[in-house]
Amino acid sequence: MIVISTPTGTIGAAVAESLRAAGAPLRLIVRDPSRLPESLREYADVVVGSHADPTVLDTALIGATAAFVLVPPDFAAPDVRAHYLGFARPVAQAVRAHGVPRLVAVSSLGRGFAGPAGLLSAAWAMDEVLESSGAAYRSLQAAFFMENLLHQVELIRDQGMFVLPADPDAPLAAVATGDIARAAVELLADRTWSGQRGVPVREPVDHTPRQMAQIMSESLGRPVTCHQATLADYRARYASFGASAATLDAMVEMAEAQAAGVYPPAGAAGAGTTFRQWCESVLAPAVLDPARRNL
Ligand SMILES: NC(=O)c1ccc[n+]([C@@H]2O[C@H](COP(=O)([O-])OP(=O)(O)OC[C@H]3O[C@@H](n4cnc5c(N)ncnc54)[C@H](OP(=O)(O)O)[C@@H]3O)[C@@H](O)[C@H]2O)c1
Repeated sequence: MIVISTPTGTIGAAVAESLRAAGAPLRLIVRDPSRLPESLREYADVVVGSHADPTVLDTALIGATAAFVLVPPDFAAPDVRAHYLGFARPVAQAVRAHGVPRLVAVSSLGRGFAGPAGLLSAAWAMDEVLESSGAAYRSLQAAFFMENLLHQVELIRDQGMFVLPADPDAPLAAVATGDIARAAVELLADRTWSGQRGVPVREPVDHTPRQMAQIMSESLGRPVTCHQATLADYRARYASFGASAATLDAMVEMAEAQAAGVYPPAGAAGAGTTFRQWCESVLAPAVLDPARRNL
């Protein structure tokens, strides 16, 4: 039995759907089952609740051969590290108690970076706790999600620009979330691996934001430019969305770490969705569909 948390989220939904399509035995931990597609609701065991709740985990992990977890983003969290550990600790305890052999989680690229890295540091703290479960563990070390740019669909469509708190000429490691889900599915379906390791998930070649703008322009058939937000503007933008002071601090610290080279350079090897493929298959339909609002 493979146990999946966050099956209504971007990555969790893709993981659950692929495993369903492959006919794998599946149990979903979900707060509101009505948000699941009917096909999944009918196919899988469903345990209602949050994977931060030990009693929910105690039911969900019975007979589990593998589990997939990620920490739900919460911009309102009063303490970012505590938010991540609020999920990681009960998961680690339940995985240990049930002897779940394999655990896969979504974390961040750059673990081992010497300085503070805000949201990334919280994800690495999660890794440490999940490792303490004693299960074989794979930490999917994700780069900057290409899907983050979907939050700027309207800006791209209406003003031909996107904004990042990053040097337009410094490489930014990125990944399509579909590639993270694919990596998770491969691991969850495979009963042969052991040990604890990080698995980088990123586009094989890094692009700078200026190169990303050029690729976007070509994919959309219209000019797009990138603009560097100051950290003060970045902070103000997310404050206007209701982010807590702690989250704002963690986001600024993450941007500073990215500027300081937290992500190791790409090895130019391996497969994965390229930024151009992502623009053509995901961004272009979103931008060119006038019915679509900013996410
Ligand atoms: N964005 C990036 O560039 C980046 C880079 C590296 C790593 N990451 C990591 O990627 C993860 C985000 O993955 P994602 O994009 O798939 O997330 P997402 O699409 O925002 O999905 C969040 C999921 O969590 C569930 N959820 C929300 N609050 C919950 C709670 N209190 N208890 C239980 N479930 C809850 C939601 O379900 P319902 O609301 O339906 O209950 C939903 O299924 C984060 O851990 C982040 O650190 C992000």
